[in-house]
Amino acid sequence: MTSNDRGTRLAGQVALVVGGGRGIGAAVVETLARNGARVVAADTDRLPSAYNHYRSTAVTGYAEARELAVRLAAEGMAVTAAEVDATDEDAVRRLYQGVADGPGRLDTVVNAFGVTHVSPVERMELAEFRHVVSGNLDGVFLSSREALPLLRASGGGSIVNFSSVSGRSGFAKVAHYCAAKFGVVGFTAALAQEVAKENIRVNAVCPGMVRTGMWDYLLSEFVRPGETEDECWERMRAMVPQREFQTPEDIADLVLYLAAAPRVTGQAISVDGGMTAP
Ligand SMILES: NC(=O)c1ccc[n+]([C@@H]2O[C@H](COP(=O)([O-])OP(=O)(O)OC[C@H]3O[C@@H](n4cnc5c(N)ncnc54)[C@H](O)[C@@H]3O)[C@@H](O)[C@H]2O)c1
Repeated sequence: MTSNDRGTRLAGQVALVVGGGRGIGAAVVETLARNGARVVAADTDRLPSAYNHYRSTAVTGYAEARELAVRLAAEGMAVTAAEVDATDEDAVRRLYQGVADGPGRLDTVVNAFGVTHVSPVERMELAEFRHVVSGNLDGVFLSSREALPLLRASGGGSIVNFSSVSGRSGFAKVAHYCAAKFGVVGFTAALAQEVAKENIRVNAVCPGMVRTGMWDYLLSEFVRPGETEDECWERMRAMVPQREFQTPEDIADLVLYLAAAPRVTGQAISVDGGMTAP
């Protein structure tokens, strides 16, 4: 199936993608919608601190989610945008109330948001550590918790949490991000055990290197004197056994599989070209 084809694999289903305004999350929204799901793309224009890869509290995720929804709706897909800061408990509750009041059922939740920042541990402020950990982990907890009653009422469903290659291996200067992404894997496995008997599946995806806004920032931090950011990106290729970077669509294809895989739960699955092969 090419990216413009339409499928019916998720016909009649409702999916919520938190962090669905841009980057990998936006590709997930499009893939689920093209496969027949009604999709809510939730994102934010304001983050709780500037300890993130935008170096700012002002971001454009919700604005981009609205644009994405308009573009896909113009092609006949059922996509709407919603505003949420996934670290804000009340906002997450309101988001799920909106799903209950609107589509009225829920089959798949994708927690695709995340933030990173670069600092060696010795120079890392406690505030930075806390914001990067909570920016990746609090929302996974809050969104999963609020999803459970709706998924249960729909007869079960799938939660897909975003971890990372940094949730399988440690990388220098992103210890907070690694701690959080390893945490996502642990949270996912534990919740999967809690709800397995209710036909609610909980899995994590671990992308390798995908050139989104996150890597625009990382390249600006990792670039060496005399090197361009494109040259720095090419240098990163040596870390990937396949010598190929991943695309947002590569990751979205795994999310689509997990949305509809009835007997896969508690797993963390990598799409990283072999970077973390055991
Ligand atoms: N790009 C990569 O190479 C890579 C690799 C491994 C893992 N990941 C993970 O994949 C996920 C998506 O990353 P991306 O590369 O697409 O980044 P991105 O910055 O392009 O997209 C992230 C989206 O999440 C939203 N977001 C961030 N914090 C939020 C919050 N508190 N509430 C609501 N929305 C929030 C942002 O507004 C943005 O739209 C993240 O969890 C990231 O850690 C990315």
